[in-house]
Amino acid sequence: MSLRIGDTAPNFQIETTKGKIDFHEFIGNSWCFFFSHPADFTPVCTTEMGRTAQLAKEFEAKNTKPLGLSTDSVEEHNKWILDVNETQKTTLEFPIVADPDHKIAELYEMIHPGESSTAAVRSVFIIDPDKKIRLTMTYPMSCGRNFDEILRVLDALQTADEQGIATPADWRKGDRVIIPPSLSNEEAEKKFTQGFEEVKPYLRYTQV
Ligand code: BEZ
Repeated sequence: MSLRIGDTAPNFQIETTKGKIDFHEFIGNSWCFFFSHPADFTPVCTTEMGRTAQLAKEFEAKNTKPLGLSTDSVEEHNKWILDVNETQKTTLEFPIVADPDHKIAELYEMIHPGESSTAAVRSVFIIDPDKKIRLTMTYPMSCGRNFDEILRVLDALQTADEQGIATPADWRKGDRVIIPPSLSNEEAEKKFTQGFEEVKPYLRYTQV
């Protein structure tokens, strides 16, 4: 059965480049950006691993731990990380799951046989501190992910949780936000004392 938004992220224990982890313990009180790769020593994956390493401070500022996965061994990952660091001018510090027998890739349905029967596609799971899946994205092997979007959606999810709002198309931190339709105008007046603009009864903007 597919993993869906709102499901508890299945727990697992696995070897990584930073030693054995229990996934839920690893997440702890943080958010997690769990993302899969088809294989080590491949070009698109090398740029994605490098980009994640370059963004370490941004992920940390969002209380988010990156966790990579590729269907190769720890030994291969460690050799590949040297190439990632060299070619992407970075120092990769986050753990990469070793999944040569596809145990975790199968658990998280990262293998899409129409694309490849042996390698994971580019899956993204954003998991919150309660271990709930909050976002999933799936990219084909040929397309590197957009890391601006991954950081943006972390901001959107965290702001929605903190402020009880929703975010409009292309929202970025600092932009106006949307008051959910579940809130009446009377409730919105009490909650958003800064005021709000009612464009339609179902479309109300405020600033948080
Ligand atoms: C890559 O990461 O470059 C890649 C991996 C598998 C298929 C196509 C591209």
